[in-house]
Amino acid sequence: MATIILVDDELTMVQMVAEVLRADGHEVFPFTSYNGVMEALTTHRPELVITDLYLDKTRPHGLDILRKVREMSPPPSVIVISGFGTVENAVDAMKLGAFDFLRKPFNLDDLKLCVRRALSYTAAVAENTELRKELRRQYRFSQIIGASARMQEIFRLVEKVADTPTTVLILGESGTGKELVARALHYNSRRASAPFIPLNCSALPENLLESELFGHRKGAFTGAVADKLGLFQEADGGTLFLDEIGTMPPQLQSRLLRVLQDKEIRRVGDNSSATVDVRVIAATNEHLEYLVKDGRFREDLYYRLNVVPIALPPLRERSDDIPMLVAHFLKDRVHLRTGQAFRVTRRAMAALTAYPWPGNVRELSNYIERASILADTALIRVADLPAPVQASAPPDDGQEEHQAAESASPVGAAVIPGRPPGPPPAAMPAMPATTGTAAAPATAPSSAEVVTLKKYLRDHEQNYLRHAIAFTNGDKEAAARLLDVSLATLYRKLAEDAD
Ligand SMILES: Nc1ncnc2c1ncn2[C@@H]1O[C@H](COP(=O)(O)OP(=O)(O)OP(=O)(O)O)[C@@H](O)[C@H]1O
Ligand SMILES: [Mg+2]
Repeated sequence: MATIILVDDELTMVQMVAEVLRADGHEVFPFTSYNGVMEALTTHRPELVITDLYLDKTRPHGLDILRKVREMSPPPSVIVISGFGTVENAVDAMKLGAFDFLRKPFNLDDLKLCVRRALSYTAAVAENTELRKELRRQYRFSQIIGASARMQEIFRLVEKVADTPTTVLILGESGTGKELVARALHYNSRRASAPFIPLNCSALPENLLESELFGHRKGAFTGAVADKLGLFQEADGGTLFLDEIGTMPPQLQSRLLRVLQDKEIRRVGDNSSATVDVRVIAATNEHLEYLVKDGRFREDLYYRLNVVPIALPPLRERSDDIPMLVAHFLKDRVHLRTGQAFRVTRRAMAALTAYPWPGNVRELSNYIERASILADTALIRVADLPAPVQASAPPDDGQEEHQAAESASPVGAAVIPGRPPGPPPAAMPAMPATTGTAAAPATAPSSAEVVTLKKYLRDHEQNYLRHAIAFTNGDKEAAARLLDVSLATLYRKLAEDAD
């Protein structure tokens, strides 16, 4: 059943214990001295080590074994036995992570029980280690696709700061992968086994956000019917991801700053404070420095958060990565859901690479999923893509069905040539007639499709704004000039989308 290493200098005792354990079906490697034990740990990878603490009565080699075992992954459990068992020895052994301590002479039933419990503990630890590894794998960099120089730079930065206590500010347009990077930072740090807790600061009104973050005492306000732990305490030892930090109300900004400085939180309605060990990662798709200038974001908090900024490029500035991302989504999401190996025609890939992706990677992943549902076969054609992407397609030479794009390995270099690098066209191209996100039925809508005029106009306005920003390569000041509105108006209108 299990592999067990047994070490004791009393030959008869080793023989007896080995016999009992073998009768239970275990494979036992007995030793009567420490010679070869360290090597056996590596070669046999036991689930359990049963060892005496003192063999030559001078050096506590048993403790050396415990130290070595702690470095193994997953670690075996250790039961320490000793004829010279003083309380200090036991305490030392337990401190070093021994599962249990048996004093000679012991009863065989006690030994058996102890072995059973130790083995189920080993199994639980191994499972836990596996789960943690799986989580780490999921958020390792292999899940963040990008061979472009811009993304390689991001990977280097993420790797450098992941396992440091520093606050990180992740900047980037919507859908560029800010949360993905935040998770990668967490799961590649020593905090990985503690919680990663995301909170979207724009999702809650001020009073709820406050009690969500800091918790409250029963009766602190109407509706506070019980004590509530805040997310800062829930994330203790781990990472708190504050998304859309730019929308945080000023009063909470002050409280957040205090927590970052003092590492102490006080619940709403509480007089005493508690110490927390939480790493804060913040993200925003706004230009915080403008908000600081406008007096909407505290300057001191901005500097406190902006210790290490990571700016994610919009997808249109790394369009070379698009074929790889397409391959990744087809494999990771579509194949997983449908079991089918979808491919993309060369013409469709050209359209996908040329489209400016105002919604970035999220929009790309949505469109790929949608195309896989619409496509009649496992070959995705331009016709299966939403109208705005279709508008970016090269002319149809009637050969589309016969030309699948070579599949780009998500980890290797992109095979399909991307949009040729160069300056954007001199004039902003007109908006396509219909868009993927706006509710804009070309024919008379049925009553189920009717949206209010306000929503219709707002959706179109949003699309036009994104189109303009995409056209100016993300330069919002230039976009505002192009649209003949003030920068403040542009930001206000963009913020309306989140409503
Ligand atoms: N480089 C990438 N490789 C693979 N998938 C990515 C990448 N970037 C983003 N994604 C995927 O795109 C989607 C959006 O990413 P994410 O939620 O991290 O974006 P975001 O910047 O937080 O967006 P928002 O500002 O709207 O919250 C997710 O499904 C994510 O897995
Ligand atoms: Mg996000």
